[in-house]
Amino acid sequence: MNNKKSNVVLVTGATGGIGKSIVNKYAGQGFTLAIADRDEDEANKLANEINHNDGKAMVFSGDLLDQSYCDNLISEVQTKLGGVGILINNAGFMSRGDITQTSDEDYELSMKINVEAPFRLIRAAIPVMAKAGGGSIVNISSCWGINPGPNHLIYCTTKAALAAMTKCLGRDHAHQNIRINAVCPNEVNTPMLRTGFEIRGLNPDDAIEKLNQSVPIGHIAEPDEIADVVSFLSSNEARYICGSLVEINGGKAVY
Ligand SMILES: NC(=O)c1ccc[n+]([C@@H]2O[C@H](COP(=O)([O-])OP(=O)(O)OC[C@H]3O[C@@H](n4cnc5c(N)ncnc54)[C@H](O)[C@@H]3O)[C@@H](O)[C@H]2O)c1
Repeated sequence: MNNKKSNVVLVTGATGGIGKSIVNKYAGQGFTLAIADRDEDEANKLANEINHNDGKAMVFSGDLLDQSYCDNLISEVQTKLGGVGILINNAGFMSRGDITQTSDEDYELSMKINVEAPFRLIRAAIPVMAKAGGGSIVNISSCWGINPGPNHLIYCTTKAALAAMTKCLGRDHAHQNIRINAVCPNEVNTPMLRTGFEIRGLNPDDAIEKLNQSVPIGHIAEPDEIADVVSFLSSNEARYICGSLVEINGGKAVY
C-alpha cells in the first residue's frame, strides 16, 4: 500500500469550545490545520494565533447547512493544503425539548448539522484518504447518542445516528486503512452547555459548580479532556481501533 498520508487535519466547528481545544492539540503536535467554522472572524483569529506561533493553519469558513460547502470542503482543503489525513466532525447543534416541543426547524437544523454534514464530509473524504493509503476520522457524538438524556429528543436522535454511522463506517473502511471512531462525551464546559443554563435563567458558573458534584471524578469535562482522546484515536497508538464509540464521562454514565 502506498503511504502518502497527509498531516492535514480538518476540524469543523473549529472555533467552538471543544473545537478550539482540538485545533490547539493538533497544532501543538506539528499538524497543519484546516479550520472550518461559520464564524469567519473567530476562525481567522484562531488561524492567526497558530501561524504566529510557528504552526500552520488555513481558514475554510462556511455554513454546514449549505450542501455544496459540505460536498466541496474536502477537495478545497486538498487543493490548498495538499490532502486531508484526519477529519474531525466536531460541529454540532443542540435543540432542547421533548418531541411536542420540537419544531420542524429544530428537526431540520439538527439533522443537517449533526448528521447530514458529517455524512457529506465523510463521503468526500473516503476516496481521498483511500488514495493516500489511509486516514482517520473522529466524530463527536455524545453519551446521549448511546443512552438518551431527558428532554432533548432530536439532539439525542441525531447523536445516536452519528454513533450508528460511525460503527458502520468503522467496519466498511478498515480494509482501506481508514479508521473511523467517535467520542461520546458527557457534559463539557463549553458555550453550548453554558448557554443552556443562561436560557433557563441560571448563572452558568453556579450551575456548573452544582453539576460538578454529580460527576464521580469530581468535575464535568474541560474541552482539553475531550481533545486528548480525539487526538489519541486518530494517532498510531490507536491503530487497531475502528468503529468504536468512546465514552468520556468521568464515571458519570447515562442510563
Ligand atoms: N458541550 C457539551 O456538553 C457536549 C457534550 C457532548 C457532545 N458535545 C458535542 O461536541 C461538539 C462541540 O460542541 P461544543 O460544546 O464545543 O459547542 P460550541 O457551541 O462551543 O461549538 C460549536 C461550533 O460549531 C459551529 N457551528 C454550529 N453550526 C454550524 C454550521 N451550521 N456551520 C458551521 N459551523 C457551525 C459553531 O460556530 C461553533 O464554533 C458538538 O458536536 C456537540 O454536540 C458537546
